[in-house]
Amino acid sequence: MGTRSIVARAWQALCPAACGGAPLRVLELGAGDGTLLLAVARQIAPAWPAVELTLLDRQRIVSPATLAAFAELGWQVTVDVADVLDWAARPPDTAPGAAASSWDLIVTTLFLHHFEGAELDTLLMAIAARSQRFFACEPRRGWLALTGSHLIGAIGANAVTREDAVFSVHAGFRQRELTALWPAPAAAWQSREYTAGLFGHCFSTRRAQAHAWAQ
Ligand SMILES: C[S@@+](CC[C@H](N)C(=O)[O-])C[C@H]1O[C@@H](n2cnc3c(N)ncnc32)[C@H](O)[C@@H]1O
Repeated sequence: MGTRSIVARAWQALCPAACGGAPLRVLELGAGDGTLLLAVARQIAPAWPAVELTLLDRQRIVSPATLAAFAELGWQVTVDVADVLDWAARPPDTAPGAAASSWDLIVTTLFLHHFEGAELDTLLMAIAARSQRFFACEPRRGWLALTGSHLIGAIGANAVTREDAVFSVHAGFRQRELTALWPAPAAAWQSREYTAGLFGHCFSTRRAQAHAWAQ
């Protein structure tokens, strides 16, 4: 199973269906060029025609064509060019009427493993304070993924990609490591940590009393 299907399934499990009313507010941290979430959007947009999506990354690499493709699906996209640790240091949304946890869903893919120690703690704390639901899909740390990362040269990957792949697996997660790091009382969040596909490791969580996104 590829990352697109893994994310689409997790999204549908966390937010089963739109039923009119307010759009779902989603933030992707470390979104890259936005094409992974565009592929997810193409899969789930029939059930989710109204989404307000923010793509945050420290690089400005979302193309006009990608933004146009989201717009065709009816998704309203904002690009936020920022370092995620600066985002974590911003005060939570204090707009009148905004809930303290203002994102219905925060998503990360192949992103959390860039951080460790105090930075990872800070990032998870900011996510927990600002979201109703959170999903992360990361590299799985283990022998199978490590073997795969060493073999990608055989399919033509260059030296930089090969080195990145090996680094990513070493920095990845396994078992219940993200659950242990999640900075919120277990009773207040319903969490699941699981393997996905050959190389993926996922963490999915929602507030026990998550706000409805639609009336
Ligand atoms: C491996 S890419 C993943 C992109 C996308 N999520 C995907 O799965 O296709 C990691 C992304 O994280 C971004 N990134 C790394 N460190 C960051 C930081 N401190 N703040 C914001 N973005 C960061 C990089 O610019 C890059 O686009």
